[in-house]
Amino acid sequence: MTPSANMNVMIKAARIAGRSLIKDFGEVENLQVSVKGAGDFVSKADLRAQSIIKEQLLEARPNYGWLAEEEDGEIIGPDPTRRWIVDPLDGTTNFLHGMPHFAVSIALEHKGDIVAAVVYDPAKDELFHSEKGQGAFMNQTRLRVSGRRSMIESVFATGIMPTGGSHLTQVLQDLGRMIPATAGIRRWGAASLDLAYVAAGRYDGYWEYGLNPWDIAAGVLIVREAGGFVEPMTFGGDLMGGDGVICANESLYPHLCKALGRKTEAR
Ligand code: IPD
Ligand code: CA
Ligand code: CA
Repeated sequence: MTPSANMNVMIKAARIAGRSLIKDFGEVENLQVSVKGAGDFVSKADLRAQSIIKEQLLEARPNYGWLAEEEDGEIIGPDPTRRWIVDPLDGTTNFLHGMPHFAVSIALEHKGDIVAAVVYDPAKDELFHSEKGQGAFMNQTRLRVSGRRSMIESVFATGIMPTGGSHLTQVLQDLGRMIPATAGIRRWGAASLDLAYVAAGRYDGYWEYGLNPWDIAAGVLIVREAGGFVEPMTFGGDLMGGDGVICANESLYPHLCKALGRKTEAR
């Protein structure tokens, strides 16, 4: 597949920001032993990555809008139908604690639809990318969701907000149902990579409550283009509106919904 001009712009931005994050990550590893910790330094690393991405994307496409996590409010561009949705550092807690599992997430939305996506894990140099209708890839390799059909053989990921947030009771109830019914649950702390790993068939499914658009915009397209089902965690809710996410392959999706007590849409 030949990447579009937009995809080339996105990949370039993700790689440059990824290099900056890796440089800062080296410093964070040194700061682990200090009493003050790496908190302030990480905030700066996050902002540095964001400004690199912003400069790259808005310079190449000055007409597009911009929505990013570390920014106050959204920029509506001269072309109001297109906007970038960016999380410059997804997996901040991992980064802060010196754990190499974090990503840059960049999505391009057109008329409310995500049409191109990049999730880049710079520590492992894994670049997950997809354009609508063109399939999903990790570096040059085409991705496909897993083919497993049985819950007990499947590994699922979830996410839990720091301190548990307002969903803590629900999360604990879900874990109580899922742990005995599956081959295992992972909670690795980077939603964009959780989705990318479902697309790659590493996880068989993933669910999480209450995410922001920048956490999932890119990953959702990558899962769909790899053949997976993705819906809001709240039945009938809004995927980009904070209603969480649930995803799996076609066979497991209804079983996952059932195990989590979520209504399934008629298909
Ligand atoms: C967080 C991560 C985490 C998820 C949180 C997100 P951040 O993003 O994706 O996995 O559980 O809900 O906020 O803060 O590291 O960009
Ligand atoms: Ca995030
Ligand atoms: Ca972030």
